[in-house]
Amino acid sequence: MDICAVVMAAGDGKRMKSAHSKVTHSVAGKPIIKWVYDALADAGCDEQVYIVGEKQEEIRGVLGEGVCYVFQEQRLGTGHAVMQAEPFLEGRSGYVIVLPGDSPMVSEKTISTAITKMESADYAAVLITARADNPFGYGRVVRDEKGDVIKIVEHRDCSEEELEIKEINSSMYVFKTPLLLSALGRLSASNAQKEYYLTDTIDILIGDGYKVGSVICNFEDTLGVNDRVQLLQATKIMNKRILYKHMMNGVTIVDETSTWIHSDVKIGRDTIILPGSTLMGKTVIGEDCLIGEHTRLDTVIVGDHTTIDSSIASHCSIGDDCRIGPFSHIRPDTKINNNVTIGAYVEVKNSTIDDFTRARHLTYIGDSTVGKNVNFGCGTVTCNYDGVDKAGCTIGDNAFIGGNSNILANVELGHDCYIAAGSTITKDVPALSLGIARNKQDNKEEWVANKNRTHGPIKLDERRSEV
Ligand code: UD1
Ligand code: CA
Repeated sequence: MDICAVVMAAGDGKRMKSAHSKVTHSVAGKPIIKWVYDALADAGCDEQVYIVGEKQEEIRGVLGEGVCYVFQEQRLGTGHAVMQAEPFLEGRSGYVIVLPGDSPMVSEKTISTAITKMESADYAAVLITARADNPFGYGRVVRDEKGDVIKIVEHRDCSEEELEIKEINSSMYVFKTPLLLSALGRLSASNAQKEYYLTDTIDILIGDGYKVGSVICNFEDTLGVNDRVQLLQATKIMNKRILYKHMMNGVTIVDETSTWIHSDVKIGRDTIILPGSTLMGKTVIGEDCLIGEHTRLDTVIVGDHTTIDSSIASHCSIGDDCRIGPFSHIRPDTKINNNVTIGAYVEVKNSTIDDFTRARHLTYIGDSTVGKNVNFGCGTVTCNYDGVDKAGCTIGDNAFIGGNSNILANVELGHDCYIAAGSTITKDVPALSLGIARNKQDNKEEWVANKNRTHGPIKLDERRSEV
């Protein structure tokens, strides 16, 4: 069976009030139009044509050149949109699935159910419908006394009686391709909106004596995104589905209202996601980890048994048995190996940190290569930027760096070296050596007393009498 699809996505989505194409907005980390594409591909439909309008470049950017595009110059309605695909449909004998580009909740299951229904009897078309508590704005599905579909009436064209109908048109259909073509050729724009309605093809086919079937699906599965409120609705429903999938796979989610997980994220079993966490992009988390609270990971690969507390990380990898946070910032191109501790107010960028290394507090590591079992004292800074170029340093295994040290760009610290606290290290330190780069301390005795420079309410004489 030849099955292809036409997706209507030429609308400019005015109600989104956005500079971008409506269908390229994301729901759970995936552009709306990509959800539609994936549902079709999962249902086995590889030949897809997209009816696009002004912002077509953005849609092409998302879907690439593996699908066809047809530019709809004037937007004269959904029927007119599908007419643009006529050259693509002509000569085909099988089915065509027609979907709106703004319905991210459409699933492979819904599409397959409609195709199965189509195959079950001699239907010209199958409509996908749903029951809506509030059908305002939707086309209503009108049935005869036997329950057969007779037509779809747009909200604006409904009679009082038709407005009472709760069954709505999802704008998702399967047609026999030659019959759709024959009906498209007979559409007119004599309706409230002076548009060519795709919905009128149903009326026409029934008038021709054909049967039209229907499948009623869950309203949530048909939800269209026309504005930001519906974008949030769709995102919430999709997020809930994603969270449930992870829970069914053995992940503990502590709070479903404050946990946001993108569709491509993978999480190993026995990992616990604490409230306020957002897992984005292509993040992959291993088993038995503790993530959150209030953590954002974007495309981060995390090993097993690692804790990431109140931190932000993106485009980096973190190994097994690490302790990250609270309040760490791990930036792109960082590779943290196993058993590493990155603590409070530590930032790491474009660096490699080997096993058992610890930077527990207030440290910046940039563009550097750090060996195993290195200890960063509080306040260590790799000075990787001279205002023009960026370059990090190389730190050997077992180096011990005293607190508040600066390690300048391109410096190499040998293995097992020791950096005295407060040093600014500008040249290499050989292995097993002490690097110390600070002024010797000089105490000037009684200097404060002689200059009468004491502070605070207690007088010097009083303090002396205490001694
Ligand atoms: C449409 C249906 C309505 C259904 C509703 C479900 C018609 C006449 N009405 O109404 O029965 O209940 O969807 O959400 O079909 N588009 C184009 N070119 C055009 C016009 C529209 O590509 O010239 C695209 C839009 O970008 C959108 C889709 O078609 O993705 C649906 O169009 P929209 O204007 O949103 O239709 P609705 O009024 O929602
Ligand atoms: Ca719509």
